[in-house]
Amino acid sequence: MYGIMRELLFRLPPETAHNLTLSGLDLAGKLGLLKAFVSRPDPLPVRVMGLDFPNPVGLAAGLDKNADHLDALGALGFGFIEVGTVTPLAQPGNPRPRMFRLPEHQALINRMGFNNQGLEHLIERVDKKHYSGVLGINVGKNKVTPNEESESDYRKGIAAVYSRADYITVNVSSPNTPGLRDLQFGDSLKGLMHAIKDEQARCEKEHGRYVPLAVKIAPDMDDEGIRFVAGALKESGLDGVIATNTTISRDAVAGHRYAEEAGGLSGAPVREPSTRVIEALYAELGESLPIIGVGGITDGDSAAAKIRAGAKLVQIYTGFIYRGPALIRESVEAIRRLG
Ligand SMILES: Cc1cc2nc3c(=O)[nH]c(=O)nc-3n(C[C@H](O)[C@H](O)[C@H](O)COP(=O)(O)O)c2cc1C
Repeated sequence: MYGIMRELLFRLPPETAHNLTLSGLDLAGKLGLLKAFVSRPDPLPVRVMGLDFPNPVGLAAGLDKNADHLDALGALGFGFIEVGTVTPLAQPGNPRPRMFRLPEHQALINRMGFNNQGLEHLIERVDKKHYSGVLGINVGKNKVTPNEESESDYRKGIAAVYSRADYITVNVSSPNTPGLRDLQFGDSLKGLMHAIKDEQARCEKEHGRYVPLAVKIAPDMDDEGIRFVAGALKESGLDGVIATNTTISRDAVAGHRYAEEAGGLSGAPVREPSTRVIEALYAELGESLPIIGVGGITDGDSAAAKIRAGAKLVQIYTGFIYRGPALIRESVEAIRRLG
């Protein structure tokens, strides 16, 4: 069924198809069709970051940036859903076209640029949701906020979503906000981690609940960079790490007509780089801090490979666009077979 729909949708520009699919999902959800027709995975419960997940396969950030589609997405069988990236203020993102399909590579290139309606809108949507599964909220900084003041945007994000999220992701790895990824290195990273832990402690006092914090990192990091991140994560007492975001490398798609489009490359070409980061992180962190593996999961085997590399949970985005909800179940089953 998704195959036929995809055939039609892929004739439209990617962003139009994306929006149309989400509206269609909303409608199907309201009509009760999703519950009736989508074959959800059998439970494969897992406890990570002190949270109980019905299965380890989640939706990655960026698909539902504003939490507008939580109820429909929640009916598809994901073990958890991450919404955002949300910035304190609404912002339009980059001019269109800003999303490109590379079907020959099961890949996408995007330079959306954190287009989103801002914290106020997201909160309103989350407050109205019926979805009762695990909810991650991914926070970022506005484009107009200089890096030196980024702490303040992340603090605002954490404070605003704290009482509504099961976990919060601090995104420092989008290639589409100039300078953002610099926050993954050196003193900038340590300073930011210190600030967000401080904000978490403040919010914990205010709300009487501990909400775990994860940092999301890029795949474009050498071994030394990964070791540094791992050290900083341990030192700061963060609760998890999401590896990885999209890549700026084009090695795997060289020669493709969209290869030179600016932005982050996702899907199959980011699979190996992302798994390499997970392996290197796991070598440093062991069981001390959970890794959420994301990047290039397009079938059960690639989902299981992330778990074998050391991830405790996985997320999907581009594979979900190409394969539809069947990928959720296939991934859960492949992970179940690992035992
Ligand atoms: C169109 C698009 C938009 C994205 N937006 C975000 C975002 O807002 N925040 C974020 O942390 N990651 C974002 N991502 C990255 C994904 O969450 C994921 O980390 C990455 O695409 C690798 O996984 P995949 O190969 O399964 O797509 C986006 C990815 C795509 C394709």
